[in-house]
Amino acid sequence: MFDRIAQRYDLLNRVMSLGLDRRWRRRLVKLVAEVEPARVLDLATGTADVALGVVRALPGCVVVGLDPSHGMLASARAKVRRAKGGERVRLTLGDAMLLPFARGSFDASCIAFGIRNVPDRLAGLREMARVTRGPVVVLELAEPEGGALAPLARLHTRRLVPRLGAWLSGAGEYRYLQRSVAAFPPAARFAELMRSAGLSGVRYERLTFGAAHLYVGQG
Ligand SMILES: C[S@@+](CC[C@H](N)C(=O)[O-])C[C@H]1O[C@@H](n2cnc3c(N)ncnc32)[C@H](O)[C@@H]1O
Repeated sequence: MFDRIAQRYDLLNRVMSLGLDRRWRRRLVKLVAEVEPARVLDLATGTADVALGVVRALPGCVVVGLDPSHGMLASARAKVRRAKGGERVRLTLGDAMLLPFARGSFDASCIAFGIRNVPDRLAGLREMARVTRGPVVVLELAEPEGGALAPLARLHTRRLVPRLGAWLSGAGEYRYLQRSVAAFPPAARFAELMRSAGLSGVRYERLTFGAAHLYVGQG
């Protein structure tokens, strides 16, 4: 699926999140940068927005961006080639559930809008805990809830996003987006999963009416 939409992925993201995806990624990058890591792993790197954000924030830091989609990696390569700091991003094909890295290879690791797509999330989180000797940061979408504007935000994700997505991508793929977001566990339950994966000090914050959450634990 991601191979098919790779070329239009960035545009789809901007339009469907009303530009909020950028703000949420910046928040993630800030958390990763706090420990001034020298080596960072960006799982489900997609078109490398997070990987590039990290190298821009941290001169001297190297980021390994991993993704199983050839199409997404091709878009990432084109973007990284043109970007400032892009020479410090290493892109590699792989699966979050079986990482080709030794224990403690990274000072920090992250995954933005990716854990939802990993079939065995516990295995993915265990792998992140194994290869990281610092913060493990997860950014993921959720169905907005609570607060006066939540019904409006829900209308956006349930009705508008699938239609806009199908129209812009020319495919039915964006039904998948809404369905997978609806099926994602509530924040407290996902935080519990991170703890079961061996991460310590797990906490999370709600972003924009709960339309996304940012989780942090220590590997
Ligand atoms: C919604 S995109 C997110 C891309 C990027 N992180 C961003 O911030 O835009 C989800 C990505 O998850 C990747 N993905 C799907 N299954 C995966 C897996 N098992 N392991 C790692 N990445 C996976 C997809 O190929 C896709 O690039």
